[in-house]
Amino acid sequence: MKPVRKAVLPVAGLGTRVLPGTKTTPKELLNVVDRPILSYIVAEGRAAGIEHFVFVTGRSKGAIEDYFDHQVELEAQLEAKGKTAILKQLRDELPKAGEMSFVRQMQPLGLGHAVWCARDIIGDEPFAVLLPDVIIDGEPGALSQLVDVYNRVGGNIVAVEQVPMEDTHKYGVVAPSKIDGRLATMSGMVEKPPQGTAPSNLSIAGRYILQPEIFGLLAAQEKGAGNEIQLTDSMARLMGVQDFHAYEYEGATYDCGDKIGLLRANVGLALKRPELAAGARAAVEALLKA
Ligand code: UTP
Repeated sequence: MKPVRKAVLPVAGLGTRVLPGTKTTPKELLNVVDRPILSYIVAEGRAAGIEHFVFVTGRSKGAIEDYFDHQVELEAQLEAKGKTAILKQLRDELPKAGEMSFVRQMQPLGLGHAVWCARDIIGDEPFAVLLPDVIIDGEPGALSQLVDVYNRVGGNIVAVEQVPMEDTHKYGVVAPSKIDGRLATMSGMVEKPPQGTAPSNLSIAGRYILQPEIFGLLAAQEKGAGNEIQLTDSMARLMGVQDFHAYEYEGATYDCGDKIGLLRANVGLALKRPELAAGARAAVEALLKA
């Protein structure tokens, strides 16, 4: 079984739910506590053994490439001021030579189309997809948990979390056929099922391990829910010929693609940081009393 070495990070969406913040700043670079959302995602990928990150970018997303490069003037100034701790942090996060690739999605036609844009760099091996607007705070990280499952059962793995049944119409939802603890064999999946029709309350949560045969199906570029080329639709088709498992990971999920999710991420992750927890708690309590 080939190991999972590469990950696709689709970052070409418009981020309309958090406009105007995303008018000139990519959604994936919005700050959570003291670092961009993307910084959490790349750290999760590296911890899971990812050796090559493929970013699918789009118009006005150039700042993402710059984020993962030296900022020579800034580094010189930090050095001159003796701010060595933050300087080290900045440098430690930089990619090794050749660790990152950037491909362009000319139009945001949907997540399935974005993943398809990475096909030539991924080639003929299993790969991860990390949705870069969803932070999952887990120990080990959510992708590490998925890789662990993949190393045991192979095939395709989709991370899922339980959501209230009445919210299932907002998500991709899986149909489990056999459940064994946190792992379920899947018999189907559907993107944004109409109210009352969802096959379960297990929603797809932005982390996947997929086999390269998905690219052949994505190539058909058929549009689905929301008139977008959906990854879920091609996964559902691939399920006819390959195994799919859903894994209910352990960890707190923050969907930073909407306003409240972004707020939750800032508060939740500040409360987890030892040096900030007391101050964050006091600030939240004071606001709640006001
Ligand atoms: P979302 O649907 O959450 O992102 O896609 P969006 O389209 O940017 O957000 P809204 O709905 O307008 O607020 C999940 C991820 O997939 C990427 C997005 O950048 C996001 O990180 N994506 C989505 C693409 O790269 N290309 C697409 O065509 C669609």
